Amino acid sequence: MNKFRILGPKKLKGEIRISGSKNSSLAIIFISLLTEKPIILKNVPYIQDIDVAVKILTKLGVKINRKKFMNIDSSGICDKFFSCKLIKYIRASIWLLPAIIIRWRSGKLILPGGCSIGDRPVDLHIWGLRKLGAKIKFNYDHLKIDSVNKLIGNTIHFSKISVGATITVMSVATLAYGTTIIKNAARDPEIIDIANFLNKLGAKIINAGKNEIVIIGVKYLKSCIYNIMPDRIETGTFLIAAAVSGGDILCHNTCVNNLKIVLKKLKFTGAKITFGQDWIRLNMIGKCPRSVNINTAPYPNFPTDMQSQFTLLNSVSKGSSVITENIFENRFMHVSEFIKMGARLNIKDNKIICCGVKKLIGSKVNATDLRSSISLVLAGCIADGITVVKNIHHIYRGYESIKNKLNSLGAIIECI
Ligand code: EPZ
Repeated sequence: MNKFRILGPKKLKGEIRISGSKNSSLAIIFISLLTEKPIILKNVPYIQDIDVAVKILTKLGVKINRKKFMNIDSSGICDKFFSCKLIKYIRASIWLLPAIIIRWRSGKLILPGGCSIGDRPVDLHIWGLRKLGAKIKFNYDHLKIDSVNKLIGNTIHFSKISVGATITVMSVATLAYGTTIIKNAARDPEIIDIANFLNKLGAKIINAGKNEIVIIGVKYLKSCIYNIMPDRIETGTFLIAAAVSGGDILCHNTCVNNLKIVLKKLKFTGAKITFGQDWIRLNMIGKCPRSVNINTAPYPNFPTDMQSQFTLLNSVSKGSSVITENIFENRFMHVSEFIKMGARLNIKDNKIICCGVKKLIGSKVNATDLRSSISLVLAGCIADGITVVKNIHHIYRGYESIKNKLNSLGAIIECI
């Protein structure tokens, strides 16, 4: 049952509720270990990466359950060698580092995994933590954290913008002695959400979302109830579903401010976009999209997590276009699969040259990572005939109830 069989072409129309942010939830779940007080999280999505994070924390002695909300109690946490193999499954495991440094002051952490879209190094995380006084060594396949008596606030100027490293340093700095200034910080909405969570725990973080964040260290963190922000990439993905299928989809429980550049690009394709306080609607009925050039870059620029979805859009749009991927070195694995379906795409260095075609043809294709898997499923929804997407397990990592949500919009998808 690791395949989707999809019948196309279908116009996707209707309304769906956007789930909580995968990337914000993962970071918040792991850094909640910075306090031993109970935490309640609302709007955490039901996706596989969250299930893996819950299993990892449970193995470490954390009491964590999901009744109406997610309840986390890490007062009884035990293990100091974080070696369970699940850590390799998700990139977010790197956010165990703050807890090892703050709670135990020493320990080991095997290096995390994640989507195969690039090397995914952690050098910036380690460099930033060392600037706060943490003693961390790379030992082949794991990190060794030596006892550190006191973390001292510092000015940390990242050479490269990193979402993960900004989160790691920002969270540890909340409990360092004195003030920390992070320069060249990531500005993503998830950074703001995580800072809001930490401030609710009693941290003093100023200017999250700007490229210079100030953190005034406090002695301890309390408990809190926190509502996770909506997932902006899931929202963008469903807007693309309407755009590529000539449909009309309204996304509830989302936030328009986090998607400004994506909406600007979608408007350029000819889509009719309307929105309110917590909803966005895209209508492409009766229209053929115009192709659009894309350059991925750190927020507020175009998000790399929307690159494969726009590759699909450009594949079936009028005219030719260029998509440039500037963040990850191996994020074109969907291109060969789209070509099997009749797309006219060429890769040149870190660019995809797209020439739009009138339609795609149903084929057998392989999913390789989270975002390419959803783009292949959407390609199957609009292609003529049957598409079978193999290795579909990637999609469950980041899209809650994806088959049901798409079928409720008129898709015909079955698991085989
Ligand atoms: C986060 O990954 C997200 N993952 C990614 O989403 C997202 O694509 C990425 O940020 C960029 O926005 C999670 O939040 C779990 P980075 P992260 O550190 O933190 C290099 C998805 O599909 N780098 O911002 O790993 C790195 O190689 C996933 O939801 C270093 O060189 O990304 C990349 O080229 C995919 N050294 C660039 O920086 C480091 O220590 C940006 O990476 C860290 C990163």
